[in-house]
Amino acid sequence: MDRYIFIVATIALVLSGVRCYPSGKVTESCIDMVPQHGSNLQTSKGPYLVDVNTSSFKEGDKVTVTLRGGTFLGFMLQARLVGGVSPLGSFSIPSVTGGQAQLLTCGITNSAVSHTSGSSKSSIQVTWIAPTSGPLNNIQFSATFVQKTQTFWVGVKSSAVTYTGNGTFTGTSITNMPPGSSSLSPISSNGCGSSKVCFSQPMSCDPSVSSNCYFMSAVTSSSGAAVQVEMAGASNGYIAIGFSDDQKMGNDDIYICGLDNNGSIQIKHAFSTGTVTPNIISLGNISNFKASVNNGIISCSFTTWNTISTQRSIGSSSPYYLMLVYGSMSNGNIVVHNRAYVSDSQVNISNPAIVTTGGEPPLVKAHGSLMLISWMTTASLGMIIARYLKGVGRGKGCGNKDMWFVVHMTLMILTVVASSIAFILVFSEVRDWTGGAHPVLGCIVMILALIQPSVAMFRCGPTDKWRFVFNWFHALNAWVIKVLAMAAIFTGLLLLDATDNQWLVKVMGGFVGWEAALYIVLESYRCWKRNDNSDASESTSMELLILGLFFLGNLCFLVALLVGIGMQ
Ligand code: HEM
Ligand SMILES: *[C@@H]1O[C@H](CO)[C@@H](O)[C@H](O)[C@H]1NC(C)=O
Ligand SMILES: *[C@@H]1O[C@H](CO)[C@@H](O)[C@H](O)[C@H]1NC(C)=O
Ligand SMILES: *[C@@H]1O[C@H](CO)[C@@H](O)[C@H](O)[C@H]1NC(C)=O
Ligand SMILES: *[C@@H]1O[C@H](CO)[C@@H](O)[C@H](O)[C@H]1NC(C)=O
Ligand SMILES: *[C@@H]1O[C@H](CO)[C@@H](O)[C@H](O)[C@H]1NC(C)=O
Repeated sequence: MDRYIFIVATIALVLSGVRCYPSGKVTESCIDMVPQHGSNLQTSKGPYLVDVNTSSFKEGDKVTVTLRGGTFLGFMLQARLVGGVSPLGSFSIPSVTGGQAQLLTCGITNSAVSHTSGSSKSSIQVTWIAPTSGPLNNIQFSATFVQKTQTFWVGVKSSAVTYTGNGTFTGTSITNMPPGSSSLSPISSNGCGSSKVCFSQPMSCDPSVSSNCYFMSAVTSSSGAAVQVEMAGASNGYIAIGFSDDQKMGNDDIYICGLDNNGSIQIKHAFSTGTVTPNIISLGNISNFKASVNNGIISCSFTTWNTISTQRSIGSSSPYYLMLVYGSMSNGNIVVHNRAYVSDSQVNISNPAIVTTGGEPPLVKAHGSLMLISWMTTASLGMIIARYLKGVGRGKGCGNKDMWFVVHMTLMILTVVASSIAFILVFSEVRDWTGGAHPVLGCIVMILALIQPSVAMFRCGPTDKWRFVFNWFHALNAWVIKVLAMAAIFTGLLLLDATDNQWLVKVMGGFVGWEAALYIVLESYRCWKRNDNSDASESTSMELLILGLFFLGNLCFLVALLVGIGMQ
């Protein structure tokens, strides 16, 4: 029985595969050129060849392209700039090829050819016609061959055909005038949502007013052929924007404005293949390029006539996720970004809008929240108990230990465990040191916080004559950790806090004041008690009351901060 089901299923699968695109109308595959029915992409060299009848071309030239090398059922052919991803020029089908091939529109009319039926063929000849104007450079033909339904080769390339014409933009970059001398009027958020699409971090910031504003905007011409782009943000190297199908890096159409060795801004066009340095591709047709650097803020604007293209989408009316990143340069090349911002949703850049960001990644928020929870509750209480509440429950803890000791140890171990988890969380998301002082402080705190319980485990007995060494070390280390942890929390909140008035940092300032006040109250109370010599049990209940109130206050500050982080 099982065997019959298997056979029927196999036949169904094969039939559905064969019937998928027998007509060759495969515009879905315009960019990646992968047959939609395929599951068996061949990575071996394969028998097929793409021949050209010339080694050079200029505007308007014709090139004969021949597909051969074995029999095949289907194919697709495009011309692309070497290293580029969008099709270029147009094809015509000579009468010798007859009904075997048809023209497809991949962004540009007739910019690709494919089969008309699934019949077996051994050779196809078509003619490619170079564009008569616009940006040109060396090209290469790229073909997909389908041998059998499930067996195909993608990206079979011809030799490069050298461009010998005199097009305007043949390089991969153009250098702009030096900083300061630029006629670029300041980039601002005027018109966001009404005449342009804007994406910024923090959301809705205005780069003409705020120096802490990463900003990009796009305006699509009414024909959809051109997109006017602006970008601005503080960087010592480059800022870049990307159009993407998803929120991850890889297969993104990227424009980079970066400082060269002479302090001028260059624009580069790139395409990313993954989370590695994107490939610089032909700049293509860019006009009105303007740029400036003022007080470390790079601004640039230009109009691109290149068809926006990722692996799956093409053109300015497809929806894209927008990306905005910045980082430094090394020897004229970009190095990995310090920060990368991605829009929440895909946007149609043909329609003016203000695009939102999810802000910090969830793991970064979880890291911040967990750190705040542990350092504002367990760590804070644990330290105060060890200093001021040693009188509570003497000998009442488990195993003859004092109650304060058991509680202190438990709270501090909880703090170390929670901090370790938060520490691992953030390093699984952010694998660099670009957060300034924060990651450095965080690492020192983490190391000292791990030393504290380790040393405590091997301490000598309470009556040992060297015990005072442990006591001093333990107390001193505790205070160093406390101060550094507060500094780490402040610097961390500065990174997270995208609110206009930075209220998260202010709330944290309030918490530090609150805690300092408590220490002053408890310390003076202790002094007074020493002089007064009143009933010990009464005074500990007084301290417990103060502690309870303190804890309630902590909770209020904590809740405010957690809500703030949630809102980012
Ligand atoms: C030297 C160049 C670059 C390198 C080596 C690089 C490398 C990486 C790596 C390793 C990640 C993953 C980070 C992580 O998982 O935490 C990443 C993420 C990302 N990259 Fe790049 N990148 C480069 C340039 C660019 C450029 C020019 C863009 C422009 C759009 C870009 C956009 C992004 C975006 C949007 C993310 C996702 C960030 C996130 O998940 O929050 N990258 N990159
Ligand atoms: C290549 O073929 C095209 C179109 O058939 C023709 O116009 C052109 O002259 C040929 N080039 C060479 C170098 O033979
Ligand atoms: C290149 O840009 C110019 C405008 O600067 C435009 O007139 C021309 O058609 C563009 N060429 C292509 C191939 O898009
Ligand atoms: C190159 O430029 C010259 C004049 O500058 C022009 O006459 C000629 O047609 C151009 N060639 C091409 C292929 O555009
Ligand atoms: C930098 O300036 C020098 C001389 O002013 C020039 O020769 C060189 O080509 C420039 N380099 C770049 C990358 O623009
Ligand atoms: C994007 O917007 C333009 C203009 O309003 C519209 O013509 C186009 O169909 C939209 N694209 C999508 C995918 O909705």
